[in-house]
Amino acid sequence: MKVLLIGATGNVGLRLVASLLTHNHSVVAYVRSSSKLSSLLPPSVYGQIAVVEGDATDSAAIKKAILEAGCDAVVNSAGRAALAPWGESDSQVIFKAVVDAVRDAGGERGKPLRAWFLGGMGVMYYPGTEVMLSRYIPIYLAHNKNHALLKSLPPNAITWSMLCPSHMTPESTTISVPTKSSRSQLIANATNLPLWKGSWIEYIPLIGKMIVTGMNAPRYMTTLEQNADFIASDLESGDGESRWCGESRWCGMAVGVIDGGAKAK
Ligand SMILES: NC(=O)c1ccc[n+]([C@@H]2O[C@H](COP(=O)([O-])OP(=O)(O)OC[C@H]3O[C@@H](n4cnc5c(N)ncnc54)[C@H](OP(=O)(O)O)[C@@H]3O)[C@@H](O)[C@H]2O)c1
Repeated sequence: MKVLLIGATGNVGLRLVASLLTHNHSVVAYVRSSSKLSSLLPPSVYGQIAVVEGDATDSAAIKKAILEAGCDAVVNSAGRAALAPWGESDSQVIFKAVVDAVRDAGGERGKPLRAWFLGGMGVMYYPGTEVMLSRYIPIYLAHNKNHALLKSLPPNAITWSMLCPSHMTPESTTISVPTKSSRSQLIANATNLPLWKGSWIEYIPLIGKMIVTGMNAPRYMTTLEQNADFIASDLESGDGESRWCGESRWCGMAVGVIDGGAKAK
């Protein structure tokens, strides 16, 4: 697919460049500074992508980039949610601008675009409930509002998915194509986290579910490379030509992930 990648200079974005190329996608990187991106990528990788300069809060410019490059998909990793509820973040402003652009570009070309967005683990529901984990540990709350915006879209406006990882660490600071990873593939699940470990502690009034959420959180740490590969691999599943969302299982869903190697732990 031809993918507009917004936020290519970031932690996730740099790995997405490499993973998207490894999975044979064409990459159009939408960044504030092409010189910054070229300084972060090896020339052999930078030479394989197209670059458009623009701000991720500029909806009209993003839409123009999508339509002029003829992109079928968008991946947005721009902006970063603030940790504390009172922290300042541009995540929501960027997210809304990208959503508006992707929706309008889809309308203009007469076919919705496929899009992956980045969220966080707090968007996932506590098992057996319809309550988000962020209610028990209220951090990175911008992701919840971004998720609510996606859920409020009319059907077929955007064929979206939201990847909701916990903390991600780098496997390597070197960006290379094809990508190399010694880690297992991610195990994913929609709405609820895969392989959650329950405990009797959750029945302690008021604080039980908060404690169990805190106990589980470190188990969901993954790598930037694993998450980038997950998105790039899913985008191989078609452009929605034959069905609403090609072969992907994840359309219209928040997706939680765990390292496949953590299965037995
Ligand atoms: N890192 C984690 O462990 C983690 C865990 C869970 C969820 N997430 C979520 O994953 C997403 C990406 O995280 P990250 O760690 O990759 O963030 P990051 O390293 O801080 O990267 C943010 C990216 O956004 C770009 N950006 C910010 N404002 C922009 C603007 N106005 N116009 C264009 N680009 C803009 C930055 O570009 P410049 O280079 O121009 O500044 C950079 O490429 C975020 O939503 C984050 O909350 C991250």
